[in-house]
Amino acid sequence: MERHIVEYEVLNNRNLTDDTVRHWEVAVHASTEELQTFAETGYLIREGLFQGEALERLRDALDHLETQEAEARDKEIAGKGSWGFIPRNLMDKDKVFLDLLKFQPTLSIARAMMGPLVRLRGLSARIGYPGDDLQHQTPWHQHMRVISDPLPPWFSHPHCIDCLIYLDDLNEDTGAVAVVPGSHNWLDKTAPQTHEVVEGEVELRVKAGGGVLIHGNLWHRALPTLKTKRRMLILSYTPAWLRKSPNSGPRPKNGLTKRFLKEADFEERILLGAKEYH
Ligand SMILES: [Fe+2]
Repeated sequence: MERHIVEYEVLNNRNLTDDTVRHWEVAVHASTEELQTFAETGYLIREGLFQGEALERLRDALDHLETQEAEARDKEIAGKGSWGFIPRNLMDKDKVFLDLLKFQPTLSIARAMMGPLVRLRGLSARIGYPGDDLQHQTPWHQHMRVISDPLPPWFSHPHCIDCLIYLDDLNEDTGAVAVVPGSHNWLDKTAPQTHEVVEGEVELRVKAGGGVLIHGNLWHRALPTLKTKRRMLILSYTPAWLRKSPNSGPRPKNGLTKRFLKEADFEERILLGAKEYH
């Protein structure tokens, strides 16, 4: 895979003694052309993010969590129109997930697209279960619904990268993901919240362990899970000054990140949203 280096100087005269605050050298796991395409289309496919044992570890950890939270799962998947089971705050629940905090193949791309000061918006998962009823599909949606009409003079374009990491092959049986290229830049309309075909949509399929990185406002939907369970992680990044996703719910009281933060360095504290960065 082609890589390149991006160097940043943060123009901030606080913390002058700590060079890591000011100077960032990011070894980006993508080419400049790929980033350009990502900026234009709003998505970037990454095959083989996890392979072999690394993929198995994630699967095992998610399966274990699914068993632990079986009661919540059964409630979530019961209703009509359910999106499946969405366990949240994964970094608090298993070290295998906490180890993704500085996963360079995605974090480096987030830094290349949004600058060095990014934070985790969250790590959650979505599990779709097979069934006859076109179940556990999702309608068209986008993740940062904060755009007003009219746009104010100092409108802040919401940026976010959601890495949809698939632990099972995406195909007819599990349900592909569909996106509308370029829709992350549309400021005058929102995704229609239907399952209808939208002009220009493309269906994407990746192998287990691969990912589709999307801008958080790219219109996307998941096709129904028909025959085989579909396990996906959602690893999300925003600029460091954005709040954590409101959808994550409360952090577990004695979660792993709480302990981790006691010894965490500057970068880790920023990533977990525990450090001032201004
Ligand atoms: Fe989504």
